[in-house]
Amino acid sequence: TPPLQPFAIRFGADNATLEPQGPTLQRRMSDLEGLFADRRAWEQAVADGDPVVYTVVSSPVPETARELPQSITTIFPGDTGGEFWMTKGHQHPDPQGEIYLGLEGHGGLLLFDGERAEWLDISPGVIGYIPPGWAHRSVNVGDEPYRFLAVYPGSAGHDYGWVLTHGMGLRARRSADRVELVPFGTP
Ligand code: F6R
Ligand code: ZN
Repeated sequence: TPPLQPFAIRFGADNATLEPQGPTLQRRMSDLEGLFADRRAWEQAVADGDPVVYTVVSSPVPETARELPQSITTIFPGDTGGEFWMTKGHQHPDPQGEIYLGLEGHGGLLLFDGERAEWLDISPGVIGYIPPGWAHRSVNVGDEPYRFLAVYPGSAGHDYGWVLTHGMGLRARRSADRVELVPFGTP
C-alpha cells in the first residue's frame, strides 16, 4: 500500500468519535471469555444480556508498516465478580512502543512484561507510555465511561493469546471506594 497523503483528524464533540472515521468494533461480555477471575460471574453476565463492555473507533489510517494508526477506546463502567471492566489486553508481536492519552473518565493502564507488572493511573490529559515488549490492558476504575486515544505503529500487530497464556500480573478489583490491585492468581 502506498503511504497516505497528509490529512487532519478531529475528535467528535463527545470525544468518543473520530472524523473521518475508519473501522469500529464492539466487544461484548461474551467476547471476554477466560479473562475475568470469576468465571461464574462472567457466565451470569453473558446470560444477563451480554452487555457491551467496550468499543473501539479507529481513524482511517491502516494497520500497515510505517503508518501510525490511532483509535479511541471507550470502556463502560462496571465490574464482574468485583473485577473492574477492562479490555482483553494484548502483546504486540513486533515489539514496538505505543501511547495512550486519557480523554474522559478515570482508568488504569496495566502493563506486564512476563515478570514485572506496572499500573499507571490515566485521567484526561495524561499520556501513558507502553514500552516495546510490555503487554497492556486498560481498566475503567470509575463510574462513568473511560475513554482514551491510542497511537501505535501500524506493523506492531495484536497477540491476544499471549495474555491468556501468561496473564497480566495483576487484577484490578473494586474495594469499597477504591481500586485494589491483587496478584493475578488470587481468586
Ligand atoms: C492498539 C491498542 C488499543 C487497543 C484497544 C482495545 O495497539 O493497544 O487501541 O487495541 O484499547 O483493547 P484490546 O485490543 O486489548 O481489545
Ligand atoms: Zn496495543
